Formats: sequence, C-alpha cells, structure tokens
Amino acid sequence: MKQLIELRVNGEVYEIAIQPWRTLLEVLRDIGLTGAKRGCDEGDCGACTVILDGKPVASCLVLAIEAQGKDILTIEGLAEDGQLHPIQSAFVEHGAIQCGFCTPGMILSAKALLDKNPRPTEEEVRKGISGNLCRCTGYAKIVEAIMAVSQKS
Ligand code: FES
Ligand code: FES
Repeated sequence: MKQLIELRVNGEVYEIAIQPWRTLLEVLRDIGLTGAKRGCDEGDCGACTVILDGKPVASCLVLAIEAQGKDILTIEGLAEDGQLHPIQSAFVEHGAIQCGFCTPGMILSAKALLDKNPRPTEEEVRKGISGNLCRCTGYAKIVEAIMAVSQKS
C-alpha cells in the first residue's frame, strides 16, 4: 500500500505517495531529479550521492521514508540564480568534469567535505571523494579542482 510522504529537496517540499520500501534514489528520480544516478545500487560507487542534513549519503541505501524531516540536497540544487556553484565552476575550469554518472556525486561529496573542512589537505580531499568511483580515469584533475576551491575560500 502506498504511503504519503513529504520530502524537502533543494529547499522545496514534495508530497509523494510511494511504496514504503522505495529508496530515496528511486523517488528522487521519479520526481524528475535525475542528477543522482543508479550505478551499482549497492552503496559501492557513489553515483547516487546526495547530501542529507550536511552529510553525503548513498541514496540507493536510504529509504525515502527515512529521509523525511531532513534537508536533502541534490546536484540540481547547487547552482543559484543561474550561476554555477564555485565547485561546479572549478570542475569546469580544471577539466575535472567526467561523465554524467560519476560527476554529480563527486561534486556533492566535495561540497560536503568543504562545508565541514574548508581547507582540506590533498589527502583529506582524496579521502572525501573515496566513495565516488570512476573507472575511466585518474582523480588528479578532480583533486586539483577541489583544492583550488578550498584555496579561494
Ligand atoms: S548506486 Fe548507490 S552507491 Fe552505487
Ligand atoms: S565513471 Fe564517469 S567518467 Fe568514469
């Protein structure tokens, strides 16, 4: 049986009738927020990363009903007034944009890290994005972009 739930995503409240076992990832994608991707669906790849009350989480491992009452930030909520977030701009400037599967999660993990620790060491940056996998390339440019934002702040 479906249950009516309320989710606060990117500052907007959504009322949705869902089956109680549906994941946050599924429900976000159902309401049109498709930036979070389904990669492994097992908590391993980070493609589904969103920020829940300031912490990066694998939304494929969170039930949508558990996310009620929390602030959910997805990649769609990062730009403001048509302006890219500084982390997004740095990814563009440093050639750190990769595919649409891994990049949203990388950027959100970077945001959660920099919000908590605005001046991370390179090691801390690497640790901060260690849950976000890309099997196609190295992480050098991504780390460079995140370090560049931290040095600007
Ligand atoms: S799809 Fe959630 S961690 Fe891979
Ligand atoms: S998974 Fe996105 S570029 Fe490798």
